[in-house]
Amino acid sequence: MNRNFKTSPLPFQGQKRRFVKQFNEALVEFPKDATYVDLFGGSGLLAHTVKQKYPSAKVIWNDYDNFVGRLDAIPQTNALLAELRPILSDLPRKQRVSNEIRESVLKVVKKHEAKYGYVDYVTLSGSLLFSAKYATNYDQFANETLYNRVKLTDYNADGYLDGVERVQDDYKALFNEYKSDSTVFLVDPPYLSTDTSTYTSENYWRLRDYLDVLNVLDDSRYFYFTSNKSQIVELCDWIETRTFTGNPFSGSTMSTTSTRLNHQASYTDIMIYK
Ligand SMILES: C[S@@+](CC[C@H](N)C(=O)[O-])C[C@H]1O[C@@H](n2cnc3c(N)ncnc32)[C@H](O)[C@@H]1O
Repeated sequence: MNRNFKTSPLPFQGQKRRFVKQFNEALVEFPKDATYVDLFGGSGLLAHTVKQKYPSAKVIWNDYDNFVGRLDAIPQTNALLAELRPILSDLPRKQRVSNEIRESVLKVVKKHEAKYGYVDYVTLSGSLLFSAKYATNYDQFANETLYNRVKLTDYNADGYLDGVERVQDDYKALFNEYKSDSTVFLVDPPYLSTDTSTYTSENYWRLRDYLDVLNVLDDSRYFYFTSNKSQIVELCDWIETRTFTGNPFSGSTMSTTSTRLNHQASYTDIMIYK
């Protein structure tokens, strides 16, 4: 059974659900039999959307985060949520969970983890943590205030990625493998310095990583996603107007001072001279 999903079947930070409609419309300008490579596949929502529109296209989804593991665990996730619903049934939706009920919730979660060796903490966070907060393991989860946001129906991903080829690799390797005139790249990298803690990549995406991605756009057909927070489009516009004279800092000397704001935060000021 094929269903047209307008959102990822499981909660996923950074999924492109707000772009599905516009992406779908823009696809008419692209061939129906091309190869589409979703380099930063995430929840697979873009790959799914292409395959639904162009069933004869070759669609490749880069499952860098092993999202398929979460999809495969949907029956367990549904079982866990089914066990939690009665515990929360007297509590209005979105309401904070009292300490007593919270203990029962945590007990059930622990029991499930022992039984199945796995709990989808991202989905559980979507059900019980404040909006857009995500835990990735029990300890993180048990440290948070809980709210009753459990969905009332089961999760279901039947047919979601049917016909889509799954791969798991660094985007650069995939790009090299598939670059050709008949490939369309879907390029939706992690946002610059946003919270990427639920993604596999442990390191923050730094400006350099973010700029490196632009290399895949040269001479390619692509969809590229970014936000005005990153100002990358503004930067590229500026570079275009500037006569290239090399790195203005080459041959200079750098010295720094560091200021501690509090226990967690500090910043470094930089002086450069030549
Ligand atoms: C903004 S999300 C993509 C969301 C996706 N378009 C969707 O609709 O669900 C960016 C994804 O890139 C992944 N990623 C991080 N580093 C990567 C790398 N080096 N190569 C490929 N993917 C990477 C992240 O783990 C995350 O899943």
